Amino acid sequence: MDRDASLEPYRARRARLAEALRQGGGGVAIVPTAPERQRNGDNDHPYRHGSDFHYLTGFAEPGAWLLVEASGRSTLLCRPKDVEREIWDGFRLGPEAAPAVLGVDDALPVGELDAAMIRKLANQPAVWVPSATPGLQGQLEGWLERIRARERQGDEAPRVQHDLAAVLAEMRIVKDAGELATMRRAAQISAGAHARAMRYCAEAFRRDPAAGLPEYVIEAELLHEFRRHGADGPAYGSIVAAGGNACVLHYVPSRTELRPGQLCLIDAGCELDGYASDVTRTFPADGRFTPAQRELYDIVEAAQVAALAATRPGARQRDAHAAAVRVLSQGMLDTGLLDRDKVGDVDAVIESAAYRAFYMHGTGHWLGRDVHDVGDYHSADEAPVEQPDWQGGKVVKKPSRKLEPGMVVTIEPGLYVRAAEGVPERFWDIGIRIEDDVVVSEQGCEVISRGVPVAAGKIEALMRG
Ligand code: GLY
Ligand code: MN
Ligand code: MN
Repeated sequence: MDRDASLEPYRARRARLAEALRQGGGGVAIVPTAPERQRNGDNDHPYRHGSDFHYLTGFAEPGAWLLVEASGRSTLLCRPKDVEREIWDGFRLGPEAAPAVLGVDDALPVGELDAAMIRKLANQPAVWVPSATPGLQGQLEGWLERIRARERQGDEAPRVQHDLAAVLAEMRIVKDAGELATMRRAAQISAGAHARAMRYCAEAFRRDPAAGLPEYVIEAELLHEFRRHGADGPAYGSIVAAGGNACVLHYVPSRTELRPGQLCLIDAGCELDGYASDVTRTFPADGRFTPAQRELYDIVEAAQVAALAATRPGARQRDAHAAAVRVLSQGMLDTGLLDRDKVGDVDAVIESAAYRAFYMHGTGHWLGRDVHDVGDYHSADEAPVEQPDWQGGKVVKKPSRKLEPGMVVTIEPGLYVRAAEGVPERFWDIGIRIEDDVVVSEQGCEVISRGVPVAAGKIEALMRG
């Protein structure tokens, strides 16, 4: 692709942002990238750009800002060239090259930030800043104060502040063709990593059925597969959970050893070119589900099938959850996880939220540059209605948002059974989740993370080699 074509998506996004500013009464938008973060002495965390900033620029260096005016003019502030620093930290683009490389109208060294802000904000009707950016509000107040001090010279500070985060979230929630291509590739790499982990466990236990396989060793297989395919790394902290550890929803892999007869739950996805994938599979350590594991696994799989069927344009984002909850609740009654004499039929289980004993999280979220991507989950232009809350009560709020082609969601039902009185013992310490990444298409949805099987029989076949 020539450079002009590769810049086009960013240009188009800045133009759409300028249009949104005009619709909102004009002004100037300020978009900082993410700060660098120190880990400890002389040692930073690996740098990750700000998602909004990168969405509008494609520029991944730290220490950068973007200004977009309602007129459409864009100005980048970035680190200046510096031979000495570049020996230590690597290449810097510098403001001289930035307009040609990034397609912005102007670029300035970031050392001129205060002066540039004062110049650009003066006499603008409004300033648009991302809410909840640490420190930004204080900086903005300082710039506005300095403009107000020049009122006698005829300069006026913007009188209105708008939240830019909401505007950019609305833009980011529907992905364009280029974004979807990247997300398909990210999901494919992640699926390959899950398949690799399954094969690795099967082979290890074939070699030595008495061995234990530490969770961190399995995690290393995932990381290897992400990086060797060019992914930036994991999009979030990988979960590799042996046996009962799978019942800890945000489990961090440890030295616990996976043993034959247990299930292994892996929730891991790579980030590729700034886009996340988010995939979970649960498989038998030695390649054979026990009858109890299989019983629960098939319920979770059926819940995912139902949730996927509810994922299509015009359906609400929350419909998938309702569909999954119904299947899971019925499964809890059929298996005796829930006692029908105590909780009633499936409608009663849903009404009282009794299913939350074994399924306590939602069935999906927006996926994109952030693993839990930005975007309103509620329908902005519909009136609030009474609906079930999480606890089996009622709440009045706007309905769940309707899905549109180009939105990307995860579908991730699960069942988590801890050892407890009244719970059939054969199910103790079984935690299962199946999570796929799903693009809402014109007719229905496209599951983009199926490079690794879901059906129990197919997992067993893959693990048999
Ligand atoms: N891996 C984070 C999530 O599933 O939401
Ligand atoms: Mn997820
Ligand atoms: Mn996940």
